[in-house]
Amino acid sequence: MEKFRRTRRRVVQALILAAAGFPLWRFLTPPATAGKPVLRVKRSEIPPDGALVFRQSRIAVLRAGEEIYALSLACTHLGCTVSVTPTQLVCPCHGSVFSRTGEALRGPATRPLERLEVRQEPDTIIVLG
Ligand code: FES
Repeated sequence: MEKFRRTRRRVVQALILAAAGFPLWRFLTPPATAGKPVLRVKRSEIPPDGALVFRQSRIAVLRAGEEIYALSLACTHLGCTVSVTPTQLVCPCHGSVFSRTGEALRGPATRPLERLEVRQEPDTIIVLG
């Protein structure tokens, strides 16, 4: 009888640990969208030294000379959506200013905008999440 109680206690302890560990595991693993395509853009649609802005997905695809890159438009201060101007990116919430490559030029934001991974195919640019 004592052995049965010990075994039952261990099973209950294991279930409690598993239930407590599951939420922690969710935060420690990358989101399921990481590395998956989130946006496809025709290369010809990106204006020379300009940008295509996708406000709903909060992504800008920019071209500087031959280089094409994508920035997250989530401000690194408190997460507002940054606006793209011809010369810089500006956060309307508290006035942070970022360069066209995403470097923080004026606070309160101090970290650069997240640069998203881009896969380039002959005619298409694929932004990965
Ligand atoms: S959220 Fe962008 S400056 Fe505060």
